[in-house]
Amino acid sequence: MKRLLSGIKPNGELHLGHYIGAIIHFIEMQKDYESFVFVADLHSLTVNPNPKELRNNIKEMVGLYLACGLDPQHTYLFNQSENIYHPMLSWALECHSYMGEMNRMTQYKEKSRNKSNESVTCGLFTYPILMAADILIYDADVVPVGEDQKQHVELTRNIAERFNNRYGQTFKIPEPIIAKTGARIMDLQNPTKKMSKSAENTKGVIFLLEDLEVARKKIMSAITDSDNKIKYDPENKPGIANLMTIYSCLTNITITEVEDMFQNDNYGTFKTKVADEVIKLLQQIQEKYNEIIKGDYIDKVLDQGLKKAEEIAKTKALEVYQKLGVGRY
Ligand code: TYM
Repeated sequence: MKRLLSGIKPNGELHLGHYIGAIIHFIEMQKDYESFVFVADLHSLTVNPNPKELRNNIKEMVGLYLACGLDPQHTYLFNQSENIYHPMLSWALECHSYMGEMNRMTQYKEKSRNKSNESVTCGLFTYPILMAADILIYDADVVPVGEDQKQHVELTRNIAERFNNRYGQTFKIPEPIIAKTGARIMDLQNPTKKMSKSAENTKGVIFLLEDLEVARKKIMSAITDSDNKIKYDPENKPGIANLMTIYSCLTNITITEVEDMFQNDNYGTFKTKVADEVIKLLQQIQEKYNEIIKGDYIDKVLDQGLKKAEEIAKTKALEVYQKLGVGRY
């Protein structure tokens, strides 16, 4: 069986962008792949989050993964920081990666823009290498991610090829899986920017644990245009295109079908339908979440996932250290 791997950073609350861009695909694919999905808590450290909040976010994220439909029968779930072999491999890969490559990473450029060198951590700079280690340590075949992570998976492929060329076949070359629709869900208030947990104005972000009425209001007050025609034109009508994308992904119908269905409707009617779908989803997730979060189920799932993840990761990390000639591996 081919192997899937992916993760999400627990820097803030999970939102609809994470669900549509990533989680939906983990769930759809888990039956056909041996799946490893983790909480990328080491990646969170690049911005020095508050430890108490981070701890809560991690537990909440695992609860949400399960509430959204990740099934421990098909998916090994674990916290990245508990599998010590990830940073072990990451160091070896850092020494086979170049400053020039890291400087070209658009996410790094965006996140460090207008900040002084004294306020950008080294972790933020080398972050994509830890991501490469996360992927390569499992010989993952596929990595389902949203559009913004594509460049990091491409870097991973380059690092793997370079290592294989120098030391002999060691890593599988992973494929990024990026959906045609929904790989970049936009902010509802600023539809030229992606929906993000770090948005200053949370009116444009729908959180999975959001109060249902608040979520409805956010959709109803999403920024659109004055044309009042439901047509998919992301360049000229980014707000309505974003709502159409959300509707299409949540109902599993194509964008063309959405256009046909709502050709005679105005924005108000369409927004109500989008809000209904979003609320239905949030309600289902929140009901399950409130059950899952009680008791010790989450810990059991994490223990079971970590055991398997560690087994595989250890073998690969030791193979790499042995090939590099360090220690007595
Ligand atoms: P992160 O935590 O920023 O996002 C997690 C996943 O959600 C997707 N995503 C979105 N998709 C569509 N629209 C949006 N508005 C949106 N916002 C987020 C992201 O593309 C991503 O797939 N570096 C990674 C975490 C990571 C990882 C890995 C992923 C660490 N190691 C190994 C895959 C494999 C990150 O920061 O994603």
